[in-house]
Amino acid sequence: MLTDKQEAAANPGQPKGEPVRPRLSRLALIFFLLALSGLSFLLRNILTLENTASMHFQPQNSSHPALAQKGPLPPYKNHTICSHLEPTPDEAMEDRALLDAIVWPKPPAPTSLNQTSDPVHSLFAILPSKGGRERRVGDQLEALVQMQDFQGRPKHYGGDFLVARLHSPKLGAGVAGTVVDHLNGSYSALFPLLWEGPAQVTITMVHSSEAVAVLQRLREQRSDRFFFRSLFRSGKLSENTVCNMCLPHNRPQEPLCNYTDLHTGEPWYCLKPKRLSCDTRINHFKGGYKKDLVTNKEALLFQSRVNIKVVIHASGPDRIDVLPKKIDDPELRNRSIEPGPVQYNPSGYYYKGSWRLFDGTPVRQFDAKSITQCLTGKVMNMYGDSTMRQWFEYLRAFVPEFNLRSTSTAGPFMAVDCQHNILLNYRCHNVPIGFPTIIASELRYVANELDRLPGGPNTVVALSLWAHFSPYPVEVYIRRMRHIRRALERLLARGPGTLVVIRSANLRALNKEISLNHSDWFSLHLDRVLRNMFMGLAVVFVDAWEMTLAHHSPHNLHPPPDIVKNMINLVLTQVCPAKKS
Ligand SMILES: *[C@@H]1O[C@H](CO)[C@@H](O)[C@H](O)[C@H]1NC(C)=O
Ligand SMILES: *[C@@H]1O[C@H](CO)[C@@H](O)[C@H](O)[C@H]1NC(C)=O
Ligand SMILES: *[C@@H]1O[C@H](CO)[C@@H](O)[C@H](O)[C@H]1NC(C)=O
Ligand SMILES: *[C@@H]1O[C@H](CO)[C@@H](O)[C@H](O)[C@H]1NC(C)=O
Ligand SMILES: *[C@@H]1O[C@H](CO)[C@@H](O)[C@H](O)[C@H]1NC(C)=O
Ligand SMILES: *[C@@H]1O[C@H](CO)[C@@H](O)[C@H](O)[C@H]1NC(C)=O
Ligand SMILES: *[C@@H]1O[C@H](CO)[C@@H](O)[C@H](O)[C@H]1NC(C)=O
Repeated sequence: MLTDKQEAAANPGQPKGEPVRPRLSRLALIFFLLALSGLSFLLRNILTLENTASMHFQPQNSSHPALAQKGPLPPYKNHTICSHLEPTPDEAMEDRALLDAIVWPKPPAPTSLNQTSDPVHSLFAILPSKGGRERRVGDQLEALVQMQDFQGRPKHYGGDFLVARLHSPKLGAGVAGTVVDHLNGSYSALFPLLWEGPAQVTITMVHSSEAVAVLQRLREQRSDRFFFRSLFRSGKLSENTVCNMCLPHNRPQEPLCNYTDLHTGEPWYCLKPKRLSCDTRINHFKGGYKKDLVTNKEALLFQSRVNIKVVIHASGPDRIDVLPKKIDDPELRNRSIEPGPVQYNPSGYYYKGSWRLFDGTPVRQFDAKSITQCLTGKVMNMYGDSTMRQWFEYLRAFVPEFNLRSTSTAGPFMAVDCQHNILLNYRCHNVPIGFPTIIASELRYVANELDRLPGGPNTVVALSLWAHFSPYPVEVYIRRMRHIRRALERLLARGPGTLVVIRSANLRALNKEISLNHSDWFSLHLDRVLRNMFMGLAVVFVDAWEMTLAHHSPHNLHPPPDIVKNMINLVLTQVCPAKKS
């Protein structure tokens, strides 16, 4: 658990991400310092942790994974899913570091609804600027949130999941805020001031800390709450049975079909059909959800318009007016961003509806002509869930689709422009994908697909895997991402110049049902794991989390075209950067 305030800051209500490259020098510095302090014997192990070492939240020395002593089994290790898949010592150490970085404070004891966080009673206030100065571009804005329960009493512990946004509808501007949990019922939301003019603060409680505790229990103990089926067929006989990642522990007595991937070792099992053999599996589809996972009392913590994604009101003004940076004023010259409790920078922000990168790299805007021009001679392979299919669908408007006769939304899909030598491919990731029926022979692990690519400067690889992993313990996601990371390392080594783009998770619309299986709280953690695992690699991030949080559109599993367009502009800017003038 958390031991002090600084670790409390390790639980901001949202993740942080920046393009990887600017971080590299800092990483190098961290390694240098580590080596200097006589820890070089640890380096080999820490190298696998290089991503965690550069996390936005530096773990405390006592709990630094690389320094941690052997102790009792941490609680997150004590569940049975795939416990037969023993990680190697290096992997176990990385698991631990990644999981330590997403530790979330637990509320004290179960309480009645009256004592849980109520967004309507809770309030925030914009803190006055230092010395009452006017606010200027480059300053930092802080809003302090005090959470209260349904009877209007202040909360005294943390763990609520809040998200924050600073925006201006008039300017088409928006930026994600960083939420810092003070662990005493109050939270700070921090925003950089990036544009001149009006700016309005919106803070939303996604879930109360008490609701988060329920989600945490479900993730650790009920990963079977979501299940799949496969049809088996031979001649006139057909049967369908339940499938999941790790059935053996759930049903020790029944015979199984073992579809564990020989190359990656990724596990998958179906109950064996009574009269058919395991090699008659035809397809894979979503089986359903387990019911009655929560008690009636717990269900009260998941009420739309009451305590799921409800806006917290301001006790005073919720907006400010930002003045331009005054470069000539000597007093202002030294002032950049005000020091706050923690410095977090966003990866970017919207201005006039277009996403700009915080580090100043210009993002090009692409139209039909420049998209074709940019993709000429390229092969772009897109892998992942439906949020990656959205990219394919967007580009399909500019590159004609070749009909592969795929029978469902699962694909695979292909688009070809012979004149310009453009090839676009989309393929969904493997189980636990919850798409409508997928033919068994089309189920492929992304890592294995990557191993088949030659790579090189004309190859673009884009990945987005997150939404279907949310019902599972985080270790399942870590394992999958580790296989993909290794495949990417091999790809980048054999095909230098391959552009790899990783799209992060995004926020989505939530009600009770969706929260229990696919809450943003689960996605938040997958998202942080993803960033930390790929941070040391030469890949480009598209920060879908911030791009959906900062945008005015309601959260949606499938972000609207406006956001997709901004994402594609980011990707194509990497493929075809603006010419230096
Ligand atoms: C490590 O942390 C402990 C307490 O958490 C502190 O007393 C000690 O000074 C720290 N050591 C270093 C080297 O920072
Ligand atoms: C796992 O947790 C259960 C109770 O939830 C406990 O009985 C068991 O000893 C734990 N196992 C390990 C290896 O820590
Ligand atoms: C909750 O509060 C209401 C009114 O504020 C009260 O009538 C009710 O008894 C309380 N319930 C519990 C379980 O404390
Ligand atoms: C909670 O902690 C913050 C940060 O340490 C502090 O500024 C604030 O006054 C505290 N609030 C209460 C109610 O104790
Ligand atoms: C399933 O197959 C894999 C690979 O052959 C093997 O390692 C694993 O032990 C098998 N699982 C069971 C439950 O037999
Ligand atoms: C600005 O910073 C410089 C160097 O750090 C210092 O010499 C100077 O006095 C500062 N100016 C003001 C107005 O604070
Ligand atoms: C999610 O889980 C609940 C409870 O287990 C279930 O009733 C519901 O149908 C599921 N639905 C969705 C859309 O996730």
